Amino acid sequence: MFTLSKSFALLAALLIHVQLHFYLAGAAPTQARQPPRPSSPSGSGSQFAGVPGRGSTTTTTTSSNPPTDVTTGTACDVSTASIDTSGTTLPAPSFAPSFIGLGVGTQNYTCGSAGTYTSTGALADLFDVSCLVGQSSFATLQSTAFAAWNSSTSTSVSSTSDVLSSAGVLSSPITLGQHYFITNPVTGSGLSPKWDFTSNALAGNADAFVVATKVDDVAAPTGSADVDWLYLTNLTGTLANEVYRIDTQGGQPPASCTAGSADITVKYTSMYWLTGGSF
Ligand SMILES: *[C@@H]1O[C@H](CO)[C@@H](O)[C@H](O)[C@H]1NC(C)=O
Ligand SMILES: *[C@@H]1O[C@H](CO)[C@@H](O)[C@H](O)[C@H]1NC(C)=O
Ligand SMILES: *[C@@H]1O[C@H](CO)[C@@H](O)[C@H](O)[C@H]1NC(C)=O
Repeated sequence: MFTLSKSFALLAALLIHVQLHFYLAGAAPTQARQPPRPSSPSGSGSQFAGVPGRGSTTTTTTSSNPPTDVTTGTACDVSTASIDTSGTTLPAPSFAPSFIGLGVGTQNYTCGSAGTYTSTGALADLFDVSCLVGQSSFATLQSTAFAAWNSSTSTSVSSTSDVLSSAGVLSSPITLGQHYFITNPVTGSGLSPKWDFTSNALAGNADAFVVATKVDDVAAPTGSADVDWLYLTNLTGTLANEVYRIDTQGGQPPASCTAGSADITVKYTSMYWLTGGSF
């Protein structure tokens, strides 16, 4: 009897172990998925469905009606995510969020005759972090990304994906697109910021960009080393109606410079929230 009950106990322990193993395996995805995207309200929906060049999918499904984002295995619906602009006077969004990009790049400055730096633009890659919303890592992504980027010996924005993956900030970075500056397409003078997903997440969609106009600009609540938080609205393009640059890290130039000195490039990271748009 003793041996028998001992065997039962062993069997029970083994079963519990096996179940626990399955439970843990199922409960610990690297990137928890949110519910599939809704079929297509304006400004959100099947933004990556059928898009080529988004890398191999890690999702396997046998459903005859797969979620619209199954192409990538990574893009999650962010339409109900809330933009946290607390500590600032930035306006609340008028549209639902459609993309959240971790921006990693450089701010460029030139030294003016008055001995202070003025901005000459920026260049950044935006990485999809939509599936990390609600996870503990989300709130500090811009800081962990900045630490990795700032300590990298490379200053080339083309290396940012490798920097993030080797530092373990994002295991498999998915590039949404690029942020850079162009001549204002309406007035033909001055620089306008552009967010361009036509070469990455939305390759093949010629309208998947937005050139925006700055509406609001406030000091970063995190301190003077971090570039301002911004609110912009669409000027041309249909990628978004609004763009927020928040949660900035770095990017500010030194307070003064010697007139005539060379242009400088300062590393920064930030979170870019795009709302509305037609993708
Ligand atoms: C910023 O400077 C870097 C490095 O010199 C350069 O590659 C990049 O094109 C510049 N971007 C802008 C917007 O001037
Ligand atoms: C960025 O790295 C430089 C060294 O390259 C260091 O001096 C600086 O303090 C770092 N910035 C931050 C904010 O950590
Ligand atoms: C911004 O996008 C909306 C469509 O959502 C459009 O009606 C409006 O004209 C655009 N703004 C500009 C300045 O083109």
